[in-house]
Amino acid sequence: MPWKQNPWFETVLEAQRRAEKRLPPSVYAALVAGSERGRTPQDNTDAFAELEFAPHVAGHSPERDLATTVLGIPVSMPVIISPTGVQAVHPDGEVAVARAAANRGTIMGLSSFASKSVEEVAQANPNTFYQMYWTGSREQMMQRMERAHAAGAKALIATLDWSFSIGRDWGSPAIPERLNFKAMVDMAPEAIRRPKWLTSYLKSGTLPDLTTPNLQAPGQAAPTFFGAYGEWQQTPPPTWEDVEWLRKEWGGPFLLKGVTRVDDAKRAVDAGVHAISVSNHGGNNLDTTPATIRCLPAVADAVGDQIEVLLDGGVRRGGDVAKALALGARAVMIGRAYLWGLAANGQTGVENVLDLLRMGLDSAVLGLGHSSIGELSRDDFYIPEDFERVLGAGSVAAPVAAPAADSAAAAEV
Ligand SMILES: Cc1cc2nc3c(=O)[nH]c(=O)nc-3n(C[C@H](O)[C@H](O)[C@H](O)COP(=O)(O)O)c2cc1C
Repeated sequence: MPWKQNPWFETVLEAQRRAEKRLPPSVYAALVAGSERGRTPQDNTDAFAELEFAPHVAGHSPERDLATTVLGIPVSMPVIISPTGVQAVHPDGEVAVARAAANRGTIMGLSSFASKSVEEVAQANPNTFYQMYWTGSREQMMQRMERAHAAGAKALIATLDWSFSIGRDWGSPAIPERLNFKAMVDMAPEAIRRPKWLTSYLKSGTLPDLTTPNLQAPGQAAPTFFGAYGEWQQTPPPTWEDVEWLRKEWGGPFLLKGVTRVDDAKRAVDAGVHAISVSNHGGNNLDTTPATIRCLPAVADAVGDQIEVLLDGGVRRGGDVAKALALGARAVMIGRAYLWGLAANGQTGVENVLDLLRMGLDSAVLGLGHSSIGELSRDDFYIPEDFERVLGAGSVAAPVAAPAADSAAAAEV
């Protein structure tokens, strides 16, 4: 590079390039994630580009209002932090993300698999939402919810779209169970090739923590990431009654994350949830699930007048946020975008990402001739005919001559 690099990056993709250079390859690969062919994460981002803007040439508004609320919490823009359970990206980890979100007037979503405690994170950002999977016994779940309540978490995010799919065509990194002496020796060759990352940990006087402090039972050590994953795998999957139980036990604002189907969205309403996120777990769950922006319109049409509908998956630009809002989302949640920012430049890098999304959204609202995000609509885009995916609304016609049982199954999806 012939010029001195500006620490400020101008797109999220540039943050990703810097993250790749800075992080040990195994840590970078854990953030890329995906499963099987990697088709879904690719579609999550590509699909946004299929929606084409229809900008105005004059008559633009000199001022634009980007603020909204999510589950009653005012936010300066419709972008909040999606929970990610990742370790070893940066010594300040989720606390840096929470501070950045607070500084930019938005909500922090904290994963129960995160490397920092809900107490530390809620202190850094009073508008923290706490995320849980369906894992462990009911007593353990109640204890974890009580702890999050006591820490001041403002809402619960229940993420239920995980089915333990395995394997990536490009391979998965070997991640140690614990960072003991042997693991450090094994990791040394990668770490030495990433001096900036290594120095940030040496300066902080800590080692990457591979435990999950939010899943710590009273009087016991925090489980390792893999220990926590094992508990989750052994927990029988939840029913819709369990969703209702979780919602009632929490007793406050409740967001169900991972909905792609219209029938599930309706069941979520019946279970009393206050919000859903149209999400495919960033493409890390069942590969070839369609991009969330394709599934959003049908879900928003079905339940958007009853509960808040959010979207996550593939958001990398402010224009993507505008598109999601126009197709029915109240706000979006971001995952990898802020992880790249965190890896590239710590808290400042996350602020940088949030600023890019704000500026990009503002440009879209300006160019489309609006004065507020509430005015965004389908009229603002060309939407290709085959763009949308309606899942779980009986949209797949049953074959005419099929036996009754088969037609019922075909009508399900
Ligand atoms: C590395 C990684 C770890 C994640 N961990 C969690 C998690 O612990 N809990 C959760 O609800 N979602 C988790 N997610 C999913 C994100 O919350 C979000 O749904 C997804 O990242 C959105 O897609 P995007 O990365 O394209 O923005 C994770 C995603 C990634 C990439």
